[in-house]
Amino acid sequence: MANKILVGAQWGDEGKGKVTDLLARTADVIVRFGGGNNAGHTVIVGDQKFELHLIPSGILYEEKINIIGNGVVLDPAALVKEMQMLEERGISLDNFFISEIAHVIMPYHRLLDKLEEERKGAGKIGTTGKGIGPAYTDKVARRGIRLVDTLDKDRFYRRLTEALDYQNLLLEKIYGVEALKAEEIMEEYQEYIDIIRKHVTDTTLLLDQARKEGKEIFFEGAQGTLLDVDYGTYPYVTSSNPTAGGVCTGTGFGPVGIDAVIGVTKAYITRVGEGPFPTELKNKIGDELREKGHEYGVTTGRPRRCGWFDIPIIKHAIRVNGLTELALTKLDVLSGMEELKVCVGYKYKGEIFQEFPLEQETLSGCEPVYESMAGWTEDIIGLANYEDLPEAARAYIEYIEKAGGVPVKIIGTGPEREQVIIR
Ligand code: IMP
Repeated sequence: MANKILVGAQWGDEGKGKVTDLLARTADVIVRFGGGNNAGHTVIVGDQKFELHLIPSGILYEEKINIIGNGVVLDPAALVKEMQMLEERGISLDNFFISEIAHVIMPYHRLLDKLEEERKGAGKIGTTGKGIGPAYTDKVARRGIRLVDTLDKDRFYRRLTEALDYQNLLLEKIYGVEALKAEEIMEEYQEYIDIIRKHVTDTTLLLDQARKEGKEIFFEGAQGTLLDVDYGTYPYVTSSNPTAGGVCTGTGFGPVGIDAVIGVTKAYITRVGEGPFPTELKNKIGDELREKGHEYGVTTGRPRRCGWFDIPIIKHAIRVNGLTELALTKLDVLSGMEELKVCVGYKYKGEIFQEFPLEQETLSGCEPVYESMAGWTEDIIGLANYEDLPEAARAYIEYIEKAGGVPVKIIGTGPEREQVIIR
């Protein structure tokens, strides 16, 4: 029994869904600890494809306990849609729980997210437009509404009118749009809350009980290290801590109970939204990666920017998450490329950096320093044994292991559940 955290090691979209699904098989409890419905996991089971944004992937296994922790900001409309989709497809929600102290994404959050992006114009973050940033802003500014506040109608109304006193000032006086009405929001949200209500509880108690019973707990990360509000490419980040530390604050589970931290990394890199990306390929190779890897966002459908693997990034992710192992996904997408490049450092104003710079103007000015590696032409789709990989593919993996100093234990060789090498 080992309690594990899974995090994205790059800018999100590393293929965490598949690795999560794999690791969730042995876990008893699966927990989301941060982010919201800005995330999107695709899990393929047989000929069925599930797109999950909020509910942990463990929901696809009966009997497992699935928890949304307090670190998540919860859009009730999105949650209800996902719950209904799962129920329609015969998935039970009996063992699904949500932290009562998770903050709720309100209509003004979604509105402010869009208005603020419009105001920023060319300097926009490229958010998913789901209201994530404004919801976390209100949480920290101590004017948020938590799920527990919505369970009692009178209390919800009081909290909402207090919140609107402030939010409507912003909407009307700063952004020049119409104020929102408490009654209309209440009417819409009451419907969602009535569906969600029976799943809402103090999830710290459930986690504590699971720990005492020696159950295996799996913390399923969303987004990625470089989108972390502290360790990412600030300000082009999300507004939470998707790194391993977010588990403790986002679930109320202490650090001593964690046994392993797994970082998921693509065999190349992608990014959606704005912000620096040193190894980005704005050329035919980038287009090829996008098409072969189906690199379009699950949540927004936006085409993802694609680039070569970056060693300083993986070293940074290993460091700030305390990664104990890596899962390398989408290796099959690189098949057929004659030459592969790996970024080993950056050149900035005549200097060579070996570590990932945390200041974004510096990062934007960095030129990658590449090493070339041989590619392979063999189709590796569905291979399940490490030894069956072409020598060049093994050399690529071992190069990453050596540079990072942690083993690559899981290797994705195709989109389906079973297309994976476990070492
Ligand atoms: P927000 O999280 O919607 O505020 O967006 C902030 C930044 O994080 C934008 O660049 C988004 O594209 C990015 N982002 C948020 N969630 C994800 C994700 O799950 N995968 C990839 N990028 C994400």
